[in-house]
Amino acid sequence: MIAVTGANGQLGQLVLKALQAKTPEETIVGLVRQQKNEEVVTSLGVEARHADYNQPATVRDALIGVTKLLLISSSEVGSRASQHKAVINAAKDSGVELLVYTSLLRADTSPMILAQEHKETEQMIKDSGIQAVILRNGWYTENYTQGAATAVATGAVVGAAGEGRLNTASRVDYAEAAAVVLTTQGHAGKTYELAGDEAYTLADFAAEIARQSGKPVQYQNQSKESYLEFLTTVAGLPQPFAEILADSDACAAEGALADSSKTLSKLIDRPATSLAESISASL
Ligand SMILES: NC(=O)c1ccc[n+]([C@@H]2O[C@H](COP(=O)([O-])OP(=O)(O)OC[C@H]3O[C@@H](n4cnc5c(N)ncnc54)[C@H](OP(=O)(O)O)[C@@H]3O)[C@@H](O)[C@H]2O)c1
Repeated sequence: MIAVTGANGQLGQLVLKALQAKTPEETIVGLVRQQKNEEVVTSLGVEARHADYNQPATVRDALIGVTKLLLISSSEVGSRASQHKAVINAAKDSGVELLVYTSLLRADTSPMILAQEHKETEQMIKDSGIQAVILRNGWYTENYTQGAATAVATGAVVGAAGEGRLNTASRVDYAEAAAVVLTTQGHAGKTYELAGDEAYTLADFAAEIARQSGKPVQYQNQSKESYLEFLTTVAGLPQPFAEILADSDACAAEGALADSSKTLSKLIDRPATSLAESISASL
């Protein structure tokens, strides 16, 4: 039996769908933090179980009969290491045979603030002795394309990634990779650096939005500090989240989100979703 945490989340739902195409759905379980979201999973035809990382007993109960577990990293930045620790302990207690974890591209060396909790989690998984696969996911293309309509309206893509090359991929690609690893042999002990096939800059991104929309859209590069101010004052984001985004863009300017290995497309046996397709879907 295969369990997926964060199953009602955006990546989680796509993983469930990818698994359904590969394995009988009665062998799939979606773990959900809030009971009110169980329907998101059951409406896909998958069993839902309640599991809150902050209540370890719920995770242990939810893992009864589970042999393979996909731990989708928590969305609660700052609490993730302790939350993931609770899941790893529960997996160990429950006799889970394979633990698959969604980490971050080059989490061991990445300068991004976001990398720290992933690095700690990878170490905890190693220390647990459970057979594991680490999926070091690069940036989601959707992180950028969700702003495509605003870019058309304002004529600008604003960021601090400079000329940094971005090998992003769509959530659907990372979900497919997780499903492949969970349903085929030979992955235990491996760490996969997963990223898109194409390398683009935010100027390329703005140009593609302009091409598809027929409206003028240009990239406005800012310093990390100005971008942080833009995110809090113009975009209205909370300071801690804005700091993470500004840090991520500044690290991307130095190549933190570039990767030319094509490991993702090899693993899923098809090209990763192109930037043009993702922009088209968003617009
Ligand atoms: N590579 C990237 O570009 C990128 C971008 C964004 C996020 N991420 C990471 O990738 C993960 C998956 O992405 P996503 O887009 O699917 O995020 P998402 O839609 O926000 O889903 C996150 C999932 O984690 C669950 N969760 C949070 N706290 C939990 C807890 N205490 N106990 C149990 N479940 C909990 C959420 O449950 P609720 O619905 O109850 O909140 C949700 O199901 C994120 O959580 C984040 O770690 C990566």
